[in-house]
Amino acid sequence: MHTGKHVTVLLEEAVEALVTRRAGTYVDCTFGRGGHSALILQRTAADARLIALDRDPQAFAAAQAICDARFRCVHAPFARLGEVLDGLGVGQVDGVLMDLGVSSPQIDDAKRGFSFRLDGPLDMRMDTTTGESAADFLRRAGADEIGEVLKSHGEERFAFQIAQAIVARRAARPLATTAELAGLVADVVGARGRRRDPGQDPATRTFQAIRIHVNQELAQLQAGLKAGFARLAVGGRLVALSFHSLEDRLVKHAMRALARPAEPPMGVPLKADQLPVPAWRLIGRAIRPGAAEVKANPRARSAVMRVIERVAA
Ligand SMILES: C[S@@+](CC[C@H](N)C(=O)[O-])C[C@H]1O[C@@H](n2cnc3c(N)ncnc32)[C@H](O)[C@@H]1O
Repeated sequence: MHTGKHVTVLLEEAVEALVTRRAGTYVDCTFGRGGHSALILQRTAADARLIALDRDPQAFAAAQAICDARFRCVHAPFARLGEVLDGLGVGQVDGVLMDLGVSSPQIDDAKRGFSFRLDGPLDMRMDTTTGESAADFLRRAGADEIGEVLKSHGEERFAFQIAQAIVARRAARPLATTAELAGLVADVVGARGRRRDPGQDPATRTFQAIRIHVNQELAQLQAGLKAGFARLAVGGRLVALSFHSLEDRLVKHAMRALARPAEPPMGVPLKADQLPVPAWRLIGRAIRPGAAEVKANPRARSAVMRVIERVAA
């Protein structure tokens, strides 16, 4: 199935948290199919600005349908946010939104190779114009490297057995399709693995890990957060929606580190009110979609939204 539709997660909550100034400049780092972008445009004034990014050429193409002089989309990974803003002559911004992970049009299109439920070429790149596909990676890397990826990005208990099976299999013929990879994982994991995660396809963790690796998602997130924080004006907010624990951990730690009160210098007795006030504050706690949203859109079930605001330069 390839519907080309994406149901935006935490749409109201994210835009409500993001837009603090109607005439502000905002960045949607993950345009997708523009659900958040459309509401940002609705909630902002005629002299506001919205810059969207997406590394997926199909998402970038979809953005061309938006006819609004306030809007501009750039085909780029958000790790390059600083360069993109420099190129557009934009200095500081009032809000940065990151709705991480993959979109439904990516998962639901068999040709993109993201899904173990649909048979297609083993690609998994969000940006199909550059980089190593999943098939290239599994053809090139050694068993240790593959095993490490499955362990660290998928927390897969059978990581090294799966990696060895991939290397053994490719001696005859490299894996080329999602069905071949899913079948190999099911053979390795067997009934024992299925009992561990009942209700979850045994290939879930392997596919997640390889996707994160192929797209360098954690390095992208780290660089994107750094660039986003650096560009926020006082009063500006960064809103991040994560879809798995590795992403959320990174967002949580980065935000908490900024908002943490400074430690008094060693040996200097200072009262709490004499310490420098942090330039950042966390806005509320982590927000998760409610039961009704998850029922209507099961892909929302793992979402976690976190918000931080710059309160001083
Ligand atoms: C969950 S979807 C966003 C959906 C969007 N908020 C909407 O309402 O339609 C994530 C999108 O972010 C893009 N993306 C993921 N990582 C990216 C990165 N590092 N740089 C740029 N785009 C990225 C993906 O290609 C995908 O289109």
